[in-house]
Amino acid sequence: MNMKNELKVRALEWTGNSLKILDQRALPEKIIFEEYSDVMGVARAIRSMRVRGAPAIGIAAAYGVALSVMRHYSESEADWESKVAGDIQQLENSRPTAVNLYWALDYMQRVLDKQTGNPIQGIKQAAIQIHAEDIIANQTMGEIGADLIGDAQTVMTHCNAGALATGGYGTALGVIRTAHKRGVAKVYAGETRPWLQGARLTVWELAQDGIAATLVADSAAAWLMKSGELDWIVVGADRIAANGDVANKIGTYSLAILAKQHSVKMMVVAPVSTIDFTIESGEDIEIEQRSQDELLPECYINNESLITAWNPVFDITPANLITVIVTEKGAVLEPAENGVRSLQ
Ligand code: MRU
Repeated sequence: MNMKNELKVRALEWTGNSLKILDQRALPEKIIFEEYSDVMGVARAIRSMRVRGAPAIGIAAAYGVALSVMRHYSESEADWESKVAGDIQQLENSRPTAVNLYWALDYMQRVLDKQTGNPIQGIKQAAIQIHAEDIIANQTMGEIGADLIGDAQTVMTHCNAGALATGGYGTALGVIRTAHKRGVAKVYAGETRPWLQGARLTVWELAQDGIAATLVADSAAAWLMKSGELDWIVVGADRIAANGDVANKIGTYSLAILAKQHSVKMMVVAPVSTIDFTIESGEDIEIEQRSQDELLPECYINNESLITAWNPVFDITPANLITVIVTEKGAVLEPAENGVRSLQ
């Protein structure tokens, strides 16, 4: 398959000298690409969620390291490496939950350490490779996940784990794209409050591929499952612990509990770079708290000091609520039994 023609939606575009980031805050009303040539800009774009989704954050950070080396490398000045280290630190501090960020920064650091002479070409190539390999991994996961869905007819997803959240094609949406080609008839997307990744991004992204997704309020999920129509929940992940616990967008845990109650199967789709083999369980995962302003109605912001909101943006789904974890290296059925170390 010619992936370039296959990808209608792209979150990131590398020009060779700069990184173009699709501003996801403006979607679906406006398609705005902003161009970045320094790390401060890339870190800000990640923090402000112009680019979001675990793999896309990692890829943007990898390009950020390339931009840093391009800016600071100098044959004559010895301190360029400490400037790059400072930039890597900035990227590390941009968002805490998605482990792909740290994975990509570690990888880029290792590539940098191996360079002899001018590192610019080598480091640029490494970022391009991370990006390309993510797309291939998504396609592989699409096939594996669609095999598991088989001839089931109805799936639901949460947040946006699509082309917008990855190098392209998507993790959960990659499975849904492939399954749709094979005959899945109905796709539901939860709206994903408070940032509305489902309503603003997923239904729009699928529409670009001619897939009509039906939007449901997050609070309608239980009732939808009660109807008996739903076969699978298919979601992405921000970090997976060695025991198979999964951090993903807030609301995933609720869906998993509801799925258990209604005998709906729960599929998590993520590349191996989303697995944090250094932690045993989800208890060790930092959950990002974002500003209450993302949640509060605008009229309260700055006006009502006694009105506050709690805004954790991820939750942990324990492995025992998950039917299968799909990666590009294969699927782990019933991850609660043995965790995911077999994928290491
Ligand atoms: O806060 P976001 O929009 O970055 O959260 C994204 C998610 O939770 C996705 O499900 C996850 O990163 C997987 S994306 C392939």
